[in-house]
Amino acid sequence: MDYQFREGFLWGGASSGPQSEGGWNEGGRVPSEWDYWFEREPERFFRQVGPAVTSDFYHKYKEYIKKMKEAGIKSYRTSIQWSRIILDCEGHVNEEGVAFYNKIIDEMIKNGIEPMMCLHHFDLPVYWVEKGGFENRDTAKAFARFASVCFERFGDRVTYWTTFNEPVIIPETGYLYQRHYPAVCDARRAALVGFTVQLASSLAVAEFKKSGCKGKIGVIINLTPTYCENPDDPADKKAADTLDLIFNRSFLDPSVLGEYPRELVELLDSEGILPEVTEEELQIIRENRVDYLGVNYYHPRRARARRTPYEGPLMPEKYYEPYEFAGQKMNTSRGWEIYEPAVYDIAKNIQENYGNIPWYMSENGMGIQDEEQFMDGNGVIQDDYRIQFIKDHLKYLHKAIAEGANCFGYHLWAPFDCWSWINAYKNRYGLLRVDIYDGCKITMKKSGSWFKALSDRNGFSEEEI
Ligand code: BG6
Repeated sequence: MDYQFREGFLWGGASSGPQSEGGWNEGGRVPSEWDYWFEREPERFFRQVGPAVTSDFYHKYKEYIKKMKEAGIKSYRTSIQWSRIILDCEGHVNEEGVAFYNKIIDEMIKNGIEPMMCLHHFDLPVYWVEKGGFENRDTAKAFARFASVCFERFGDRVTYWTTFNEPVIIPETGYLYQRHYPAVCDARRAALVGFTVQLASSLAVAEFKKSGCKGKIGVIINLTPTYCENPDDPADKKAADTLDLIFNRSFLDPSVLGEYPRELVELLDSEGILPEVTEEELQIIRENRVDYLGVNYYHPRRARARRTPYEGPLMPEKYYEPYEFAGQKMNTSRGWEIYEPAVYDIAKNIQENYGNIPWYMSENGMGIQDEEQFMDGNGVIQDDYRIQFIKDHLKYLHKAIAEGANCFGYHLWAPFDCWSWINAYKNRYGLLRVDIYDGCKITMKKSGSWFKALSDRNGFSEEEI
C-alpha cells in the first residue's frame, strides 16, 4: 500500500439535515429560513428546485444508511435541524423530531456507522429569522438552549458533536455576497452577525461542558488558504493576510485560542464596523474553546494587492483582487480551483499555530454538473475524476500526518447526492447517485466501490483506480 493510514482513521462522509432530509412539513417540523426564502423567491434556486424533498432521507434513511455502509462509510456527519427539534422562541420541544433523530442515530450505530452530529448547517428556524436572526443576541442564547436539548436527548450515543458548520458563511453569504437569506450587502451587519454566531458557538460549548456528556465538542471551519501572487511583495502579502483574517481567523482564533486576532479587531474598528461587545461575552469566548476541529476544504483563494482603486460598498474586495495563472487547474462545473497542496498547508498551520489541536477533514469533494453524461450501459456513473480528486488530496494529508499533523479522519462531501442551497441539484457530489426524478432512486457510483476498498484497507495504492 503506497498510502497507509492508521487503524481507526475515520473514513466517512458528510451531509446536512436541510440538504438531505426533505419532509419539510412532516413530523411537526416548523419552517426554516430556506423554506421561507424559497416560498418568496423560488427563481433564485437552480431550476426552481426547493428544500421540500431534497434527497428524501427523512423517509428513506434505512436504505441510505445501508447503502452508505456498502460504500465504506464508517462515520457520517449530518446536522440536527433546529426547526425539527424546537417549535418556537419559547423553546418548546417537538418530541416527533427527537424521535426521528433517535431513529437515525440508532440505525447508524446498528450498521457500524459512527454518528457525528452538527447543530447548525445554515438553517435558522423562521421564528428566529423574524426576530432578526443572528443580529439578535437572543438567537445566540436560544441556540445554546437548543444545543443543550440535543446533548440531553442524544448525548448518550453521540461522541462527536459540532456547534456550527462553516460559521463564516452566515455573515459572508447572507450579509455580503447575497447567496443566502437575507441576501443583503451590509458589512456592519455582517460583522455583528459574525460575532453573534461565535458567541452562540461558545455558549453551546459551555452547555456541552455542563451536560456531563462523555463525547467531544468541536466546530467545523472552512479553511480556505489564501495564496498571493508575489509573496516577496509586501502589498501582495498584506492582501493575502487580510483575507486570512476575514475568512479564516475570524472563527478559527476565537474557537481554538479563545481570542480574536488583534489585527481583525483593528481592521473592523478602522472601518467603523466593530460590533459592541461586553467583557462578559469575551470571557465566554475565552473560557469555552473547542476540543477538536472539523476542516472543510474545497479550493484555495488567490489574492494580490489591488491594481485599481476599489469602488462600491464595503466588501473584502476593497483589500485585494483575485488573479489567475497559466495552468491553474479548475473544476469547471463548480468554477472552483483544484489545488491539493493546500491540504498540507492547512495541516501545517494547525500544527504550528493552533497547538496541533485534533482535527479531521470534515468536507472535501467534487461537484459535477450533468453527471449522467458519465453513466455507462449498466447505469453506473464512471466517476474516475472523483476517485482521482480524493486520492490527490489524501496524498497531501498523508504527508502532513507523517510529519505529525493531528488529523484523525477524512470525510467526503457527500456520501450521496444532495441538495446544494441555491444550486439545488446542479452539481453532484455523491458516492451514491440519487435520481430525484425517480423517487430518489439510489445507485452506487464507481467511486462508491473504490471508497469501500479505501476504507476497508485504510489506504490506497498509487496506480489503482
Ligand atoms: C460546503 C457546505 O461549503 O460546501 C455544504 O458545508 C455545501 O453545505 C458544500 O453543499 C458544497 O458546496 P455547493 O455550493 O456546491 O453546494
